[in-house]
Amino acid sequence: LRTDVIVVAAGSGQRAGDGIPKQYRSIGGRTVLRRTLEAFAGSNGIRHILPVINPEHAALCADSAAGLPGVLAPVAGGATRQASVRAGLEALADDPPDLVLIHDAARPFVSPRLVARAIAAAERHGAAVPVLALVDTIKSVPETGFIASGPDRDALRSVQTPQAFRYALIRDAHRLQTHSAHLTDDAAVAEAAGHKVAVFPGDPANVKLTTPEDFVTAERTAAADLL
Ligand code: CTP
Ligand code: MG
Repeated sequence: LRTDVIVVAAGSGQRAGDGIPKQYRSIGGRTVLRRTLEAFAGSNGIRHILPVINPEHAALCADSAAGLPGVLAPVAGGATRQASVRAGLEALADDPPDLVLIHDAARPFVSPRLVARAIAAAERHGAAVPVLALVDTIKSVPETGFIASGPDRDALRSVQTPQAFRYALIRDAHRLQTHSAHLTDDAAVAEAAGHKVAVFPGDPANVKLTTPEDFVTAERTAAADLL
Protein backbone atom coordinates (compact mmCIF):
# COMPACT_ATOMS: atom_id res chain seq x y z
CA LEU A 1 0.00 0.00 0.00
CA ARG A 2 1.18 3.49 -0.83
CA THR A 3 1.71 5.48 2.36
CA ASP A 4 2.37 9.23 2.45
CA VAL A 5 3.08 11.44 5.46
CA ILE A 6 1.77 14.95 6.09
CA VAL A 7 4.05 16.87 8.47
CA VAL A 8 2.20 19.91 9.78
CA ALA A 9 4.73 22.68 10.39
CA ALA A 10 2.74 25.88 9.78
CA GLY A 11 2.37 26.95 13.42
CA SER A 12 4.14 29.90 15.01
CA GLY A 13 5.25 28.19 18.22
CA GLN A 14 4.00 30.90 20.58
CA ARG A 15 4.39 28.86 23.77
CA ALA A 16 8.00 27.91 23.00
CA GLY A 17 9.04 31.57 22.76
CA ASP A 18 12.24 32.52 20.88
CA GLY A 19 12.46 34.45 17.62
CA ILE A 20 11.69 31.74 15.10
CA PRO A 21 8.97 29.08 15.13
CA LYS A 22 10.06 26.06 17.18
CA GLN A 23 10.17 23.66 14.20
CA TYR A 24 13.09 25.67 12.76
CA ARG A 25 15.12 25.76 15.99
CA SER A 26 18.13 23.48 16.20
CA ILE A 27 18.56 20.65 18.68
CA GLY A 28 22.05 19.19 18.72
CA GLY A 29 22.89 20.83 15.40
CA ARG A 30 19.82 19.79 13.40
CA THR A 31 16.49 21.60 13.21
CA VAL A 32 13.40 20.05 14.76
CA LEU A 33 11.80 19.85 11.29
CA ARG A 34 14.86 18.14 9.81
CA ARG A 35 14.87 15.54 12.58
CA THR A 36 11.18 14.88 11.95
CA LEU A 37 11.60 14.59 8.17
CA GLU A 38 14.66 12.35 8.63
CA ALA A 39 12.71 9.99 10.86
CA PHE A 40 10.13 9.37 8.14
CA ALA A 41 12.69 9.31 5.31
CA GLY A 42 14.49 6.60 7.30
CA SER A 43 11.34 4.54 7.97
CA ASN A 44 10.20 1.60 5.87
CA GLY A 45 7.15 1.79 3.61
CA ILE A 46 6.90 5.57 3.21
CA ARG A 47 6.44 6.95 -0.33
CA HIS A 48 6.20 10.75 0.00
CA ILE A 49 6.57 13.20 2.89
CA LEU A 50 4.69 16.49 2.52
CA PRO A 51 5.62 19.46 4.72
CA VAL A 52 2.82 21.97 5.33
CA ILE A 53 4.34 25.34 6.22
CA ASN A 54 3.88 29.07 6.49
CA PRO A 55 5.22 30.25 3.06
CA GLU A 56 7.18 33.02 4.85
CA HIS A 57 9.46 30.24 6.07
CA ALA A 58 9.99 28.49 2.73
CA ALA A 59 13.76 29.04 2.85
CA LEU A 60 14.02 27.59 6.37
CA CYS A 61 11.98 24.58 5.28
CA ALA A 62 14.17 24.04 2.20
CA ASP A 63 17.27 24.01 4.43
CA SER A 64 15.67 21.47 6.74
CA ALA A 65 14.60 19.20 3.87
CA ALA A 66 17.81 19.40 1.80
CA GLY A 67 18.94 16.05 0.44
CA LEU A 68 16.24 13.95 2.11
CA PRO A 69 14.61 11.36 -0.17
CA GLY A 70 10.85 11.40 -0.70
CA VAL A 71 10.22 14.91 0.63
CA LEU A 72 7.80 16.83 -1.61
CA ALA A 73 7.78 20.59 -2.19
CA PRO A 74 5.93 22.15 0.76
CA VAL A 75 2.40 23.50 0.59
CA ALA A 76 0.94 26.45 2.50
CA GLY A 77 -0.90 25.75 5.75
CA GLY A 78 -3.75 27.68 7.35
CA ALA A 79 -4.67 29.58 10.48
CA THR A 80 -5.42 26.46 12.51
CA ARG A 81 -3.83 23.03 12.70
CA GLN A 82 -7.01 21.62 11.21
CA ALA A 83 -6.77 23.97 8.22
CA SER A 84 -3.11 22.99 7.74
CA VAL A 85 -3.95 19.28 7.72
CA ARG A 86 -6.78 19.92 5.28
CA ALA A 87 -4.38 21.76 2.94
CA GLY A 88 -2.01 18.81 3.06
CA LEU A 89 -4.76 16.31 2.34
CA GLU A 90 -5.99 18.31 -0.65
CA ALA A 91 -2.44 18.64 -1.99
CA LEU A 92 -2.17 14.84 -2.13
CA ALA A 93 -5.47 14.41 -4.00
CA ASP A 94 -4.01 14.28 -7.52
CA ASP A 95 -1.77 11.30 -6.80
CA PRO A 96 -3.48 9.92 -3.70
CA PRO A 97 -1.86 7.43 -1.36
CA ASP A 98 -3.78 4.49 0.10
CA LEU A 99 -2.78 5.43 3.64
CA VAL A 100 -1.74 8.73 5.17
CA LEU A 101 0.08 9.47 8.42
CA ILE A 102 -0.52 12.93 9.89
CA HIS A 103 2.29 14.11 12.15
CA ASP A 104 3.26 17.22 14.12
CA ALA A 105 6.60 18.68 13.01
CA ALA A 106 7.07 19.46 16.72
CA ARG A 107 7.54 15.73 17.52
CA PRO A 108 11.08 15.10 16.20
CA PHE A 109 11.70 11.93 18.23
CA VAL A 110 9.21 9.78 16.30
CA SER A 111 10.86 6.38 15.72
CA PRO A 112 10.75 3.96 12.75
CA ARG A 113 9.12 1.41 15.07
CA LEU A 114 6.28 3.79 15.90
CA VAL A 115 5.87 4.57 12.18
CA ALA A 116 5.59 0.83 11.48
CA ARG A 117 2.90 0.47 14.15
CA ALA A 118 1.00 3.42 12.65
CA ILE A 119 1.04 1.95 9.15
CA ALA A 120 -0.12 -1.46 10.38
CA ALA A 121 -2.95 0.10 12.42
CA ALA A 122 -4.18 2.25 9.52
CA GLU A 123 -4.21 -0.76 7.22
CA ARG A 124 -6.13 -2.82 9.75
CA HIS A 125 -8.59 -0.27 11.17
CA GLY A 126 -8.84 2.63 8.69
CA ALA A 127 -8.34 5.16 11.49
CA ALA A 128 -5.97 4.78 14.43
CA VAL A 129 -3.94 6.95 16.82
CA PRO A 130 -0.99 6.33 19.17
CA VAL A 131 -1.82 6.61 22.88
CA LEU A 132 -0.10 6.47 26.25
CA ALA A 133 -1.52 5.72 29.68
CA LEU A 134 -1.54 8.78 31.90
CA VAL A 135 1.15 9.28 34.49
CA ASP A 136 -0.56 12.06 36.44
CA THR A 137 -4.06 11.98 37.86
CA ILE A 138 -6.35 14.28 35.89
CA LYS A 139 -8.91 16.55 37.57
CA SER A 140 -11.51 18.86 36.17
CA VAL A 141 -11.27 22.31 37.80
CA PRO A 142 -14.24 24.51 36.88
CA GLU A 143 -14.67 28.25 37.49
CA THR A 144 -15.20 27.68 41.21
CA GLY A 145 -11.50 26.92 41.48
CA PHE A 146 -12.25 23.72 43.36
CA ILE A 147 -11.86 20.22 42.02
CA ALA A 148 -14.87 18.60 40.41
CA SER A 149 -14.96 14.83 40.53
CA GLY A 150 -12.19 13.61 38.25
CA PRO A 151 -12.69 11.16 35.38
CA ASP A 152 -11.63 7.56 35.85
CA ARG A 153 -7.93 7.58 35.07
CA ASP A 154 -7.86 3.94 34.00
CA ALA A 155 -9.92 4.78 30.92
CA LEU A 156 -7.96 7.91 29.93
CA ARG A 157 -5.12 8.06 27.41
CA SER A 158 -2.98 10.87 26.11
CA VAL A 159 -2.84 11.00 22.33
CA GLN A 160 0.20 11.50 20.11
CA THR A 161 0.94 11.66 16.41
CA PRO A 162 1.46 10.13 13.82
CA GLN A 163 -2.28 9.60 13.50
CA ALA A 164 -2.93 7.07 10.76
CA PHE A 165 -5.78 6.72 8.29
CA ARG A 166 -6.99 5.40 5.01
CA TYR A 167 -6.46 8.48 2.86
CA ALA A 168 -9.98 8.71 1.42
CA LEU A 169 -11.54 8.32 4.88
CA ILE A 170 -9.72 11.22 6.49
CA ARG A 171 -9.86 13.44 3.38
CA ASP A 172 -13.64 13.08 3.24
CA ALA A 173 -13.95 13.55 7.00
CA HIS A 174 -12.04 16.86 6.77
CA ARG A 175 -14.19 17.99 3.84
CA LEU A 176 -17.27 17.57 6.04
CA GLN A 177 -15.93 19.87 8.75
CA THR A 178 -16.08 23.63 8.87
CA HIS A 179 -13.09 25.37 10.33
CA SER A 180 -15.21 26.76 13.14
CA ALA A 181 -15.69 23.25 14.49
CA HIS A 182 -13.64 22.76 17.64
CA LEU A 183 -11.76 19.62 16.73
CA THR A 184 -8.24 19.50 18.07
CA ASP A 185 -6.86 16.47 16.28
CA ASP A 186 -7.57 14.25 13.31
CA ALA A 187 -9.04 11.52 15.48
CA ALA A 188 -11.75 14.01 16.46
CA VAL A 189 -12.35 14.88 12.78
CA ALA A 190 -12.72 11.18 11.91
CA GLU A 191 -15.02 10.59 14.90
CA ALA A 192 -17.19 13.58 13.99
CA ALA A 193 -17.64 12.01 10.55
CA GLY A 194 -18.90 8.83 12.19
CA HIS A 195 -15.77 6.65 12.05
CA LYS A 196 -14.47 4.45 14.82
CA VAL A 197 -10.91 5.35 15.74
CA ALA A 198 -8.66 2.56 17.01
CA VAL A 199 -5.60 2.99 19.21
CA PHE A 200 -2.09 1.58 19.18
CA PRO A 201 0.80 1.99 21.64
CA GLY A 202 2.54 5.37 21.45
CA ASP A 203 6.10 6.05 22.58
CA PRO A 204 7.01 8.07 25.69
CA ALA A 205 10.06 9.43 23.83
CA ASN A 206 7.80 10.90 21.14
CA VAL A 207 7.14 14.15 23.02
CA LYS A 208 5.70 17.28 21.44
CA LEU A 209 8.07 20.19 21.98
CA THR A 210 5.85 22.92 23.37
CA THR A 211 7.59 25.02 26.04
CA PRO A 212 11.12 26.45 26.48
CA GLU A 213 11.74 23.72 29.08
CA ASP A 214 10.94 21.06 26.46
CA PHE A 215 13.86 22.39 24.41
CA VAL A 216 16.24 22.09 27.34
CA THR A 217 15.20 18.45 27.81
CA ALA A 218 15.39 17.79 24.06
CA GLU A 219 18.98 19.08 23.92
CA ARG A 220 19.86 16.57 26.62
CA THR A 221 18.08 13.76 24.77
CA ALA A 222 19.90 14.62 21.55
CA ALA A 223 23.27 14.73 23.34
CA ALA A 224 22.59 11.37 25.02
CA ASP A 225 21.82 9.84 21.61
CA LEU A 226 25.32 10.75 20.47
CA LEU A 227 27.03 8.85 23.32
N1 CTP B 1 0.37 23.72 13.15
C1 CTP B 1 0.13 23.99 11.82
N2 CTP B 1 -0.70 25.03 11.47
C2 CTP B 1 -1.27 25.79 12.42
C3 CTP B 1 -1.03 25.51 13.80
C4 CTP B 1 -0.21 24.46 14.13
O1 CTP B 1 0.65 23.30 10.94
N3 CTP B 1 -2.04 26.82 12.04
C5 CTP B 1 1.30 22.63 13.51
C6 CTP B 1 2.51 23.12 14.32
O2 CTP B 1 3.52 23.63 13.42
C7 CTP B 1 2.93 21.88 15.08
C8 CTP B 1 1.63 21.09 15.22
O3 CTP B 1 0.67 21.70 14.36
O4 CTP B 1 3.88 21.10 14.39
C9 CTP B 1 1.13 21.05 16.66
O5 CTP B 1 0.76 22.35 17.08
P1 CTP B 1 1.40 23.13 18.32
O6 CTP B 1 2.31 22.25 19.08
O7 CTP B 1 0.29 23.82 19.01
O8 CTP B 1 2.36 24.21 17.58
P2 CTP B 1 2.14 25.77 17.42
O9 CTP B 1 0.70 26.05 17.14
O10 CTP B 1 3.14 26.24 16.44
O11 CTP B 1 2.56 26.30 18.88
P3 CTP B 1 1.73 27.25 19.84
O12 CTP B 1 0.36 26.64 19.99
O13 CTP B 1 2.53 27.28 21.11
O14 CTP B 1 1.70 28.60 19.16
MG1 MG C 1 -0.85 25.55 18.56
